[in-house]
Amino acid sequence: MNFAARITGTGSAFPKNRVTNIDIVEKLAKLGVETDDRWIRERTGIRERRIADVDNPDEHNSSLGVLAAQKALEMAGKTPEDIEQIIYSTCTPDTLIPSTACWLQHKLGATQAWAMDINAACSGFIYGLTVADQFVRSGQVNTSLVIGGETLSSFLNWEDRSSCILFGDGAGAAIVEQVPGDSRRRILSSHLMSDGSLWELMYIPAGGSSMEVTPERYSQYLHKIKMKGREVFKIAVRTLSDFALRALKKNKMSIDDLDWFVPHQANRRIIEAVANRIDFPMEKVLINVEKYGNTSAATVPTVLDEAVRDGRIKGGQTVLLDTFGAGLTYGAVLIRW
Ligand code: ACO
Repeated sequence: MNFAARITGTGSAFPKNRVTNIDIVEKLAKLGVETDDRWIRERTGIRERRIADVDNPDEHNSSLGVLAAQKALEMAGKTPEDIEQIIYSTCTPDTLIPSTACWLQHKLGATQAWAMDINAACSGFIYGLTVADQFVRSGQVNTSLVIGGETLSSFLNWEDRSSCILFGDGAGAAIVEQVPGDSRRRILSSHLMSDGSLWELMYIPAGGSSMEVTPERYSQYLHKIKMKGREVFKIAVRTLSDFALRALKKNKMSIDDLDWFVPHQANRRIIEAVANRIDFPMEKVLINVEKYGNTSAATVPTVLDEAVRDGRIKGGQTVLLDTFGAGLTYGAVLIRW
């Protein structure tokens, strides 16, 4: 028997603390770093982001993931015990051991599942969805939970104005269920690629097994994100465009067949440049970067959830998810919703 995979529920969650550009300007000024609201808005499209309180267990990465998962389960009409597989996509895990997926399993009470993390940075949700699709289509799993969740604020250097203004925290979830192989509404195809030679464009030098965090390295912020934004920008525009067209070509579709384009929310200018390059109308592009900034693996599932819940995305429509991330990693998933 042939099987296909379908997303039957989505959910999202964000920390309470809303940090506006003005708040960032004030925070950075205290550190002797200059920035301004207008620069951030014009160069990125971001107006505010949510920042988690690390001292509040309810705002740990996995806790945001639990809230998102509970909403997705409710939409799908499922309980935690129905989940057989948990894939937690994150580059900001609660702890290195155990995985954030195991933390989530415990907190959610998903007692019948096996759980693992995937680190593909901002492409994480698309990588996770692809793995779930494979397990569900092979018949090994009936119900999978895929999360994209991050608390990137823990890894920001607030003295680096070119990166700290971009990121925020949050989590998005999807329930992926098995359906008959000839179902019209299903994940149509997925397309992944990585290029590890471009590791230096965005990385965290210390804190892994290759470089311990020592007091000296700590004072040099080597445990925080380092990024070459201008280079990332150019590659992002090219790869997001390429992967969008690759997914359409594979399914013998054209831009006109697409109802919604859901790109990674890194920078509004990147999204506009991609829409322009592939000749896609901005009215059909889902964007929430102005409210949440770049939440890495959480951008795609959270903006998707927003559009499912407010009725923009309807059953039977064609939805293209498209991302790039540190690694570098790239990917697209085409769905008939
Ligand atoms: N406030 C004010 N001025 C600033 C700020 C700031 N926050 N940051 C940089 N500037 C200055 C720079 O110093 C530079 O000044 P100079 O010309 O005197 O040297 C000027 O603004 C222009 O800097 P650029 O880097 O050329 O600015 P750009 O228009 O490229 O915007 C940005 C920078 C926003 C980082 C952009 O390149 C970008 O969004 N890149 C993509 C980043 C990204 O997506 N990262 C994540 C990828 S992976 C993942 O998502 C996990």
